[in-house]
Amino acid sequence: MLIVSLIPAAILLAAAHRAARPEPHPVQWGTFLGWGFVAAVFPCGMFVASPTVLGLWALLGIGLLVWQLTSPRGRSFLPYSAAAVLIAYGLAAPTAWRDYTRFAELRGRYPFESMAVRVPEPRRGDATLTPAAEKALELFEGGPGAPTLQRFRELELRYLHEYTVQAFINSPGFGVTRMRPPPREESLKPPPDRPEPPPQPASPGPAWDGAGFMGSVSADQRADFGRMHTAGLFDFVNPGGWGYARSRREVAGFLPHAFSRVPEASEWKVERVELVGLLRHADPVVYQSERLPAMADVKDAPTRSLDAFEIAGLKAIRRGEDGFAGRRGDEVRFVGAVRSANACVGCHGGERGDLLGAFSYRLRPAAR
Ligand code: HEC
Repeated sequence: MLIVSLIPAAILLAAAHRAARPEPHPVQWGTFLGWGFVAAVFPCGMFVASPTVLGLWALLGIGLLVWQLTSPRGRSFLPYSAAAVLIAYGLAAPTAWRDYTRFAELRGRYPFESMAVRVPEPRRGDATLTPAAEKALELFEGGPGAPTLQRFRELELRYLHEYTVQAFINSPGFGVTRMRPPPREESLKPPPDRPEPPPQPASPGPAWDGAGFMGSVSADQRADFGRMHTAGLFDFVNPGGWGYARSRREVAGFLPHAFSRVPEASEWKVERVELVGLLRHADPVVYQSERLPAMADVKDAPTRSLDAFEIAGLKAIRRGEDGFAGRRGDEVRFVGAVRSANACVGCHGGERGDLLGAFSYRLRPAAR
């Protein structure tokens, strides 16, 4: 800590100059050692050890000794103290510089990228959200029952990009304090234990055209699919991979959204989850892929148009519903809304509540 080291350094200098007063010659060692203890040694007990300050104290002591032995009365102590300061801080500077360049190198490895070039802003909707849709949004905003978000990586990336000069000033070369240590590569890297997107459990089913898919799903089942969808959405957007967003145009360390596991409903088995994309194409499309949706895949994935069920589902969520369920024989389908919560707006632009997409699920009764 350069700044924190300056105060004890100033006390040491004042004490050394006071001790080296021309009258009475020789040096007042009591003054020098007493103040030195206060400024350089005492703080070590409070976890603010500064090698630079301790070094300066030792160098000033040597300077005083040399000054006393070699200087005729009346010669200023200033050249000696100046030399001590230059040596003490000169020795710390290379370490601080090394920290600074290492920081700059890490910034280069986790640079700011613009989200604006990757994803268009959502279109404005004017729907009033149903209470269930509102509750689903609040889960992303720390509302009741919300999972805790892993914020450590984001904080480390923020520190890396916002505190550039501090990397030099805070260098442990100038002294170790209890202040936060600089970010390490380990905490910036993507978490290594996140599984790859799993394969779709079943091949694409037939399109549902015409009407006749409504009314056969109970309210309890509907609520269960809603919970399945929210948990799946959390997994897909993966807040731990967002990195640090200073603005929509400056995001560092972003990892594309992707499922890491197949969503689960209590008595149903998920056979397919497909992403209904609303942002990148003029008309809604369904991205098709052999794995559960992962943005790294779907960018170049083939798309299909929505079937009658999905069109009805999209209409429902555009009206403000959180989801839309239907059943034909043994098969159940569900379209779940993906809306922008406050945390999404920073990257996606638009406003809270805007529709960013939907997931289209196919489910069958779980074998008992
Ligand atoms: C840190 C930036 C960032 C945050 C935060 C973020 N996203 Fe995204 N999202 C993106 C980017 C960028 C894309 C475009 C795909 C890509 O380039 O990886 C995207 C794509 C999407 C898509 C697919 C759009 C399409 O049609 O292709 C959905 C859906 C989505 N995000 C939902 C969300 C939701 C919901 C949230 C909040 C809970 C959220 N995102 C938060 C950056 C972000």
